[in-house]
Amino acid sequence: MTEEIPLASGHLGRCLHGKKAEDQKRMWRGITSGLVRLHPDRWLYPSDYLRFANSIYNFKFRTDDVLVMTWPKCGTSWVQEIIWTMKNNPNLDNPEQSTAISMRVPFLDKFSIPVVICSFNPNSSLLPARTRVLQSISQECVRGKTPVTATPKPRAIKTHLPFSLFGPSLIDTSKVIYMARHPKDIVISYYHHVCLFKSMSYSGTFDQFFEAFINDDLVYGPYWLHLKEAWEKRDHDNLHFMLYEDLKANPLRELRNLDTFLSTGLSADQLEKICNYTHFDQMKQRNNLWEDIGIEDNVYNKDFAKEHGGFFRKGESNSWQSRLTPEQNQKMDDWIAKNLTPLGIEFRGQGV
Ligand code: A3P
Repeated sequence: MTEEIPLASGHLGRCLHGKKAEDQKRMWRGITSGLVRLHPDRWLYPSDYLRFANSIYNFKFRTDDVLVMTWPKCGTSWVQEIIWTMKNNPNLDNPEQSTAISMRVPFLDKFSIPVVICSFNPNSSLLPARTRVLQSISQECVRGKTPVTATPKPRAIKTHLPFSLFGPSLIDTSKVIYMARHPKDIVISYYHHVCLFKSMSYSGTFDQFFEAFINDDLVYGPYWLHLKEAWEKRDHDNLHFMLYEDLKANPLRELRNLDTFLSTGLSADQLEKICNYTHFDQMKQRNNLWEDIGIEDNVYNKDFAKEHGGFFRKGESNSWQSRLTPEQNQKMDDWIAKNLTPLGIEFRGQGV
């Protein structure tokens, strides 16, 4: 019988075993620890999650923290860069802006980025601490802190975990920015991601990946439940709910809304400059999600990147049209109608 591990969140973790585990291992070659399902919600994570689950649930958020919460590929990096810049670099003259985004706005989900944790090993030569923040974070990590606890306050933190895997006080303590994206664009972007990143090294076809997505069988689990948990909190003063499509269509308006939510008090001129600074073309050109910390060789499958593009792939909404077959498109429409309609969220420009 499969062992059930009770978690502080109330879920039961069951590691995949037998044929299912073997199949998953073949499919997700980068996830060497295997996978765990959390019941009853069916969240699916690398088994390493179990080592951190309770400390994440009990994580002590601060009142001045901002948590960026998304399902993978909803434009997290874009929001990370926007809010860090709004809070720390409104005049675009902070030398720390050259520090990799993933260091300035660290990832709470440690289990899914072992390579980054490794880079904080004091014996590792992978971390050329080039900037002041990076230097102090790496020194703190050598003293036993994590990238998140070592980050100077006020912190912006990123997670792909849903609300139900955090303690209930999160939303009453810290500000949370939740960004959602149309699932047709997510499935394409996520497929690119899992092939690109060595920590996943997905070996299946796009068709298999598509089926796994709509059956909640991808790592990070049920897309709709993740969205629903946040949507239900949308009227809470500490939650700011955003759509990738809106940010794309009218970034200045969205930045103004963020400015109000974060009480950053920026001028129209500052907001406009930040808008340009965080435009896809600019972020793609800077390309500093990881690169500053010298670990990109450990992060990316370079051959895949050469052929299919790197992390900053297309940065568009509605780009699924050239990728999904008519059958997949219909299947996705049915799936969306069943799940999105009851929520009443409208992704503009997607024809749904
Ligand atoms: P695509 O693969 O469709 O290009 P995340 O940061 O959550 O992993 O999401 C990554 C997706 O957001 C990628 O989508 C990436 O190109 C897109 N993205 C990142 N920065 C962006 C920006 N400044 N403007 C628009 N899209 C951006």
